[in-house]
Amino acid sequence: MDPVKQRIEELTEALNRHNHNYYVLNAPTISDHDFDHMLKELEALEKEHPEYADPLSPTQRVGSDLALKGFEQVLHERPMLSLGNTYSVAEVDEFVQRCREGLPGEEVTIVGELKFDGTSISLLYEEGRLVRAVTRGDGEKGDVVTENVKTIRSIPLRLQGTGWPRRFEIRGEIVLPWKAFEKLNEERAFNEEPLFANPRNAASGTLKMQNTAEVARRGLDAYLYYLLGDELPFDNHYDNMMAARSWGFKVSDAMTKLHSIEEVDQYISHWDSARKELPVATDGLVFKVNSLRQQLNLGFTAKSPRWAIAYKFAAERALTRLRFVSFEVGRSGIITPVANLEPVLLSGTIVKRASLHNDDIMQGLDIHESDMLYVEKGGEIIPKITGVDTSQREPDAPAIHFCHNCPSCGTKLIRAEGEAAWICPNKYGCIPQITGRVEHFVGRRMMNIDGIGEETVADLFQAGLIHDAADLYTLTAADLMLIPGFGQRSAERILQGLKDSLNVGFERVIYALSIPFVGETVAKKLARATRSIDTLMAMTAEQLTAIDDIGPRIAESIVSFFAEPVNRQIIERLRGYGLQMELPESDAANTSTRLAGKTVVISGTFARHSRDEYKKIIEDNGGKNTGSISKKTDFILAGDNMGPAKLEKASKLGIPIINENEFLEMLENNNNQS
Ligand code: IVH
Repeated sequence: MDPVKQRIEELTEALNRHNHNYYVLNAPTISDHDFDHMLKELEALEKEHPEYADPLSPTQRVGSDLALKGFEQVLHERPMLSLGNTYSVAEVDEFVQRCREGLPGEEVTIVGELKFDGTSISLLYEEGRLVRAVTRGDGEKGDVVTENVKTIRSIPLRLQGTGWPRRFEIRGEIVLPWKAFEKLNEERAFNEEPLFANPRNAASGTLKMQNTAEVARRGLDAYLYYLLGDELPFDNHYDNMMAARSWGFKVSDAMTKLHSIEEVDQYISHWDSARKELPVATDGLVFKVNSLRQQLNLGFTAKSPRWAIAYKFAAERALTRLRFVSFEVGRSGIITPVANLEPVLLSGTIVKRASLHNDDIMQGLDIHESDMLYVEKGGEIIPKITGVDTSQREPDAPAIHFCHNCPSCGTKLIRAEGEAAWICPNKYGCIPQITGRVEHFVGRRMMNIDGIGEETVADLFQAGLIHDAADLYTLTAADLMLIPGFGQRSAERILQGLKDSLNVGFERVIYALSIPFVGETVAKKLARATRSIDTLMAMTAEQLTAIDDIGPRIAESIVSFFAEPVNRQIIERLRGYGLQMELPESDAANTSTRLAGKTVVISGTFARHSRDEYKKIIEDNGGKNTGSISKKTDFILAGDNMGPAKLEKASKLGIPIINENEFLEMLENNNNQS
């Protein structure tokens, strides 16, 4: 065998094994560093030898920024049914009794499992390889989400061990573990993006994203609980799941065989509390008849199997009195209604506040003054108000309505058509919006100014020392020491932080400016494509939308931001204080926006630069390099030995093919012009 091919196979096998150790068994046997090293080696080999690249390679788990083109829908080979469910232990006992009566004279073993609170998935394997992943959809047909599912490290792309059927389906739940969920929501709160109410919504939202790199980043996980096919290794559910575990799937340790109603009840009472310690959200337990023959005998109703039932944990709910509804103003002027409550204990934490989200949700609840409200914390991290106990309402208690004017500055609120949020338009005069932007500016992922937090910003503002972010750079040690609790040392720390921030890169400066809809990723794209604030400020909405991933909403927002004299003044002052308003020269040599909005596929081998170098050249000139040819490809940069399949596809789609000399010439001309 070609030694390269052999090395690729070795690396693939080892990386798959280490992924399994880490993500399924929770027991890594090598360091992250060594893992990355192997992955890089494999990436390099695959790049040099595209003929050996495999769509199921461990290198494919990181996803790509390339937008998927919607999802194909397919019919499930076997419909994905739901389960009958109950909140009562007695009804679970009755279920076991019913199964026994349906199978006279037979022993019935029940398998107890956790009911994972995520989104269900069907995985199809052929010859030990993942060939397709489909969402539940309406139960009859679902969306093909294979590319996203491939990024979930605990799902094997190739199976281990032996004994798997040539072709089978395995179903399970895709979940976003609590930690990943909290991290995601923190980031979203920070970027003033709407939060996910619970890990279930976050998991299903993530699975339907068009950007696999973002899916990979969010950290989904998957537990498998149902094996289907014509040639399963065992005649019972439990042994089949244990076999699946040996092939590399994550099958929960909680899965247990139960032999009596007493054992079933014990299982329930154990997990009723033990589930709170789990790393993922669960909303109940599932009980299934173990024997596949018995399952067949019991059969199905129209909607669900007769051989299984879900026991749902009661959502933890409390009743407490509303003190008042406050309306809070965010950095971008969005007003959020918040129910301030008499403190109440819920799932081990004291709840005093719950978001009412927006006007529509508030109206739906029809809250009156001093109402008794139901607060719930199901799978949710943020408590929510789910209802009102109207029987306890005073007859003359007035209804509470959304405010018409900004609670902070009094300006009349506006609500754009089709948007859920009311907004205070007084962007440059409304204090919480101004201080919110300064807080954002100093944040860790923006200018990262050590020593300044929310409180310091408020104090500086109150003391009249700052009115905007640029004022920060005028502060002296004497100014800072006017703030209560500030001594020489803390003042110096801030001054040093401000000084250090002069080295923060241009892309983070863009992010720090609080341009509505410009988050971290968009800021990076803008920095790369424009290379300087002057170019960015001069661009029209039309030019901006030509940049990859910049849609009309973002473009309009950028244009109107720079149309404001206040913003231009702040930028000029920041420039004067020495902030990075462009990408450095060294980086800028041989760069342009010549390829802005262009998608380029590189194919074959080259003489004048390596493939990696060409990739960088494309990016430095504002273009995007992608792996496969599609209608979106603008041209192909072709070297020697371009694959025949690519050649055929390109000519079919009428995509121009350019050789390296032509390509370099094209950029040269441009760079001379500019
Ligand atoms: S078995 C025919 N087992 O709950 C049996 N489902 O309403 C199919 N779920 O859509 C499902 N954990 O998304 C099964 N251990 C488990 C489960 C589970 C979560 C979800 C699944 C299904 C819904 C049932």
